[in-house]
Amino acid sequence: MKVDVLALFPEIIAPALHTGIIRRVQEHEKLNINLYNLRDWTTDKHSTVDDYPYGGGAGMILKPEPIFAAVAALNPTSDAQILYLTPQGTPLTQPLVEALSLEAHIIVLCGRYKGIDERVRDSLVTKEISIGDYVLSGGEIPALVLIDAIARVLPGALGDYESAHDDSFSKDLLDHPHYTRPAEYAGIKVPDVLLTGHHENIEKWRHAEAIKRTAQRRPDLLENIELTDEEVAIIDESKVNQN
Ligand SMILES: C[S@@+](CC[C@H](N)C(=O)[O-])C[C@H]1O[C@@H](n2cnc3c(N)ncnc32)[C@H](O)[C@@H]1O
Repeated sequence: MKVDVLALFPEIIAPALHTGIIRRVQEHEKLNINLYNLRDWTTDKHSTVDDYPYGGGAGMILKPEPIFAAVAALNPTSDAQILYLTPQGTPLTQPLVEALSLEAHIIVLCGRYKGIDERVRDSLVTKEISIGDYVLSGGEIPALVLIDAIARVLPGALGDYESAHDDSFSKDLLDHPHYTRPAEYAGIKVPDVLLTGHHENIEKWRHAEAIKRTAQRRPDLLENIELTDEEVAIIDESKVNQN
């Protein structure tokens, strides 16, 4: 999979590409990430990428010409996804990450200032993505969030010891609680079942905890799954214990 990032400050993203899972998937040639500076596609001596908004008002807008020229230079096929990161976009979720991880070529446009000229959005962009309901100063950090999320679902990204199997959202549930040694810390004990070595009971306990936690913190997720009678009983019991 190839990810080309167009940004005004690619140096924000660069250091994170040399570490951890993102580095590993690049080494395994599952992911080919290229960072480009939009200024490289300007034609004036000041390398101007922004201009004042028509109609007046505060802030600057990224000009269309360097963006159109940069995307053309990256030679996208008609199948390529040209993503614009914007707080106005579709919220980034795990299913969307997994869908994007199947793409062969993604071009990621990072905005700055007040954003980009609307004609880029109308004519070039295939999808707009938001990483949350807040406004950052630029699209570079959202681009890194997107790349990291995609990298960890690519084949071979995670070793067994860091499997994504039970991760939050993988099955429309939040992850279960985790404990490590010591078995007792400051008088607080690890749940007995985890010390038994009985895999079936441990799995049952983890699933029940994931169900309870999801019901408490993100009940909206449970609307996507059909709960068994046993799972409904787990939720009801946890509500009684809460009161
Ligand atoms: C200051 S923001 C512009 C916000 C824009 N005027 C608006 O209100 O929708 C500058 C750039 O940061 C990026 N950005 C900011 N917040 C974001 C978010 N929550 N998700 C994705 N990108 C974001 C976008 O690329 C955006 O063009």
